[in-house]
Amino acid sequence: MNSNNPLIGRDIVSISDLSGAEIRAVLDQARHFEQRLKDAPMIPLLNGRILATVFYEPSTRTRLSFESAMHRLGGAVISVAEAKTSSSAAKGESIYDSGRMLESYADVIVQRHPAVGSARALAEAAGVPVINAGDGTGEHPTQALLDLYTIEREKGTLDGLTVVMMGDLKHGRTVHSLAKALAHWKTKLILCAPRALAMPGDLIAYLRNQGLIVIETENMSAALAQADVVYVTRIQQERFETVEEYMRYKGVYVLTEQAVRAAKPGVVIMHPLPRVDEISTDVDALPNAAYFRQARYGVFVRMALLAMVLGAV
Ligand code: NCD
Repeated sequence: MNSNNPLIGRDIVSISDLSGAEIRAVLDQARHFEQRLKDAPMIPLLNGRILATVFYEPSTRTRLSFESAMHRLGGAVISVAEAKTSSSAAKGESIYDSGRMLESYADVIVQRHPAVGSARALAEAAGVPVINAGDGTGEHPTQALLDLYTIEREKGTLDGLTVVMMGDLKHGRTVHSLAKALAHWKTKLILCAPRALAMPGDLIAYLRNQGLIVIETENMSAALAQADVVYVTRIQQERFETVEEYMRYKGVYVLTEQAVRAAKPGVVIMHPLPRVDEISTDVDALPNAAYFRQARYGVFVRMALLAMVLGAV
């Protein structure tokens, strides 16, 4: 038990809930778990503890990596994978009531929900830690933590980097959280998106206010030329009113092997996944392609979060 664990009993709703020092503590704990898992498949710190995963939106990586993380720590998992149709929400149950009930069944709750603010609402209702696994177009703080972990593992530092974010920066919650997180380090952020899918203006103002250098462009090759890290996102089809509107932007940027070869030699290519067509598969074989490693790192980071909020480290 480490009395320096600052996250005991805490909710993780927005990445802004965490200070730079707290983020550092999560990344260090994750690194420690990554090292220890080389010697043993399990680190049984959470025996007898229960995680509930409640997902009202599709997920593969986030739900499975949280569940894998809990199992690797020796804990148990209960789960509603299609909460929209198979939980009592389909009968009209409120998030508040769901929180009051789940707190009796689990020691920690991970929720994904289509409404911005839904994670905060659950955290206010439930007396156990709530971790936001995505609230609509709002935030995805645990993805931001694993993204930081990836950048540090791949580049050796988080400081002084030029990070290009590309794609649907309006609806993509991962970029919202990651951009806020990067404000703790000296970062130059280049936002590359069609004007209609630009990062929200109030968020950009917040980032500048936090000391980030933020540049907006629609020109992919100009952005790529400067990048140390390229963070590609999918056009978020489910957030558009009509299919026609989505089709207008689908395929607007496609990162190819040729484009990566023309960029800086050590450029790191990331993607929260799932990928549709925004990174061509010929990039996968390049050493720069970090997105599958990124998905793997998610397990260590989520182990760190679970062990920390449950006070096991
Ligand atoms: C992301 C999400 O759900 O926001 N996926 C994930 O958690 N890795 C990105 C996306 O769906 O595009």
